[in-house]
Amino acid sequence: MRVNYHPILGKDERKKLVKIVVDGREMMAVKGEPIAAALLANGIRKLRKTRKKGEYRGVFCGIGRCTDCAMIVDEIPNIRTCITPVKEGMQIITQEGLGKWERK
Ligand code: FES
Repeated sequence: MRVNYHPILGKDERKKLVKIVVDGREMMAVKGEPIAAALLANGIRKLRKTRKKGEYRGVFCGIGRCTDCAMIVDEIPNIRTCITPVKEGMQIITQEGLGKWERK
């Protein structure tokens, strides 16, 4: 959920929406907001699975320190989504364990 209208500040007209793809599903995000914020606004709370126990993790610190929000972004694993801004057309995948580097 987002704050689209503030009773004192009014409506923020500066927001530009972009399209992102998360686990194969297209969704909208505000350009420049952290990926994790866009995912939370779209109802996604599980961002990665731990390597040993396979437990889900989500946003914990929100400032780029804990890596609980690590995901695969545009084929690069271990991207801390709480501090990485959204861009048009980003491909975001829930990370399992340590993630895999795709060698080309
Ligand atoms: S939530 Fe801790 S690094 Fe992103």
